Amino acid sequence: MACVDIKALSKIAKKRNVKTIIDNTFPTPYLQQPFKFGVDFIIHSTTKYLNGHGNSIAGIIIGRDKELMEQKVWQTFKLIGTNVSPFEAWILGNGLKTLEVRMDRHCLNAQKIAEFLEKNKKVKKVNYNGLISHPDHDLAKKQMNNFGGMLSFELKGGLKSGIKFMNKIQFCSLAPTLGDVDTLILHPASSSHINVDKKLREKNGITDGLIRLSVGIESVEDIINDLEQAMA
Ligand SMILES: Cc1ncc(COP(=O)(O)O)c(C=O)c1O
Repeated sequence: MACVDIKALSKIAKKRNVKTIIDNTFPTPYLQQPFKFGVDFIIHSTTKYLNGHGNSIAGIIIGRDKELMEQKVWQTFKLIGTNVSPFEAWILGNGLKTLEVRMDRHCLNAQKIAEFLEKNKKVKKVNYNGLISHPDHDLAKKQMNNFGGMLSFELKGGLKSGIKFMNKIQFCSLAPTLGDVDTLILHPASSSHINVDKKLREKNGITDGLIRLSVGIESVEDIINDLEQAMA
């Protein structure tokens, strides 16, 4: 959940004649428009928020250099065969119609959940850009229209607590993807990052008790109640 100063990085890259590319999957174009900050390319896994329903896999690349897009990028597309199927494109188109309303709700729910977690005695740390306590809060506020639906938190008690907690979850779905209307929960140490060396994992902030939450658009009380009962 760390934030980088996109404008400052693009400026450095331009000075050195280096192209910049940003993965804007987490905020979506509704919350953050990187072209405004001088980025050359934007990529999205549209599988996530842009679709919003976890029912199609696709991705996009957007470039401001028309010539580069029409030649090198297009040729690479053609050679690799990365075209999306018509059905997946249609599902994505349907999802896009509700992007704005979904994102507003994702942000609202995530903020409430982050504030709930921050006050909880079983939680060591909450990583959400919308919290004043987050080291990148001011930067995120400057760069983004809102703070998005992704957050993580660290349970006291490490691996044991993490596994126990996950086994008690009822309402949220245990899943490694993100950006769905449903709340998705992940314990990296026992799932997605189980094969990553513990030292390396921890160096990157993925501690034994870390839980990742992709906050959905459900009634926020349902999500909080589920987290609360699992912690109990
Ligand atoms: C931020 C981000 N970008 C890109 C991807 C890749 O997405 P896809 O699996 O749709 O290719 C992911 C997948 O988890 C992601 O989280």
